[in-house]
Amino acid sequence: MTARATTAELIRRKRDGAPLTEAQIADLVVGIVDGSVSDGQVAAFAMAVYFRGMSREECAALTRAMRHSGVVLDWSDLDGPILDKHSTGGVGDKVSLILAPVVAACGGFVPMISGRGLGHTGGTLDKLGSIPGYDTVPGLDRFRAAVRAAGCAIVGQTADLAPADRRLYAIRDVTATVESIPLITASILSKKLAAGLDALVMDVKVGSGAFAPSLESATELTESLLSVAADAGLPTVAVLTDMSWALGHHVGNALEVREAIDVLTGRRHDTRLYTVTLALACELLVLGGLAGDTATAAALVEKALASGAAAERFGRMVAALGGPRNLVECPDRYLAGAPVELAVAPEVAGVITRMDARAVGLLVVQLGGGRQRVQDAIDPAVGLAEVRGPGEAVGRDRPIALVHARSTADAETAAATLRRAVTVSDEPIGATPSPVLRRMGAAR
Ligand code: URA
Repeated sequence: MTARATTAELIRRKRDGAPLTEAQIADLVVGIVDGSVSDGQVAAFAMAVYFRGMSREECAALTRAMRHSGVVLDWSDLDGPILDKHSTGGVGDKVSLILAPVVAACGGFVPMISGRGLGHTGGTLDKLGSIPGYDTVPGLDRFRAAVRAAGCAIVGQTADLAPADRRLYAIRDVTATVESIPLITASILSKKLAAGLDALVMDVKVGSGAFAPSLESATELTESLLSVAADAGLPTVAVLTDMSWALGHHVGNALEVREAIDVLTGRRHDTRLYTVTLALACELLVLGGLAGDTATAAALVEKALASGAAAERFGRMVAALGGPRNLVECPDRYLAGAPVELAVAPEVAGVITRMDARAVGLLVVQLGGGRQRVQDAIDPAVGLAEVRGPGEAVGRDRPIALVHARSTADAETAAATLRRAVTVSDEPIGATPSPVLRRMGAAR
């Protein structure tokens, strides 16, 4: 009989750069879930991985162990592919709210497990939390019923899905060990694999508003995600998209739900938001076998939007999860508005040539739209509306954005921050490049 290494010995091995075996990683994960590995040991392990990294084999073993640390969902009773999209996080990123009902309207099923805001980035779950009555953490039965009824349901991570990640993530968040490629890879993919997917598309954000500021760092993370997903047998494609500008017109929880409804119902169009959503939705429809090629997939997406089918799916999802049945028809009746609205004119007129998207995200957090401490409550009403995009003219009568705030003092502070976060020039910037930067994954 071989003696099992103690937790301290496993941490020491990783600290000293020696590889861990699949069995050793599995033991650690069991201990993370049953509590026999202490918070201090979890933190030390995470820090050892942060500095020493993991081989692809170790990362795949960690992903497998975390996937099986709780329930693995089975959707074999549904007659369509089980599809999902994951974003690495950005500012104004409401793509999930549009994409999930679009894919459902095209015949896919989307059981989407989403997260809360992290740092300067907004969280899909916080956005949905601004819908009165919407149950963001339903039990498994309600989640399943919503997926069956609407074709899509966007909810938070339940206690029984990848519980090892819940504990490890919470400890990483407060020990400066979030930014580790193997830990991010195992965290994201263990949840997606536990959700029982047939295919996944990753939206890897790049730029000032993303966690990966450069194309190089985003590419390294994407390679790790694709390789571990392939090892787990999950067909996955990644699309690297630009996050050096806020995505869409609005940033803030209720404001972004409003914008998503306006896009779904055809009341509003934003070219960058549409381009990113279309690229990701097309990848999923092709991966799921619902379209033979990208052109066919694009036609399906356009039809789902133009016919109102996607808006109808969104309404069904909201109702199935406890929200108002007529949210899509009357969003203003339900989505909170802020008491103060302030138009932010630039100091000089011109065109916007640069945005510090991270500063814009942090500004919304400071208004109360995100958390500065874990226990903070979110103010759904605050944020920025009608944010101008790249190359757009601004001036005395064309504000950079409208601040929605709780108080005049908050609005004025946010206005000053916003002016500093954008560069206004009198030189036009020419045609703006596509926000879709690179596709990675299996060739079409
Ligand atoms: N999102 C996750 O789910 N996990 C990470 O580690 C980072 C982003």
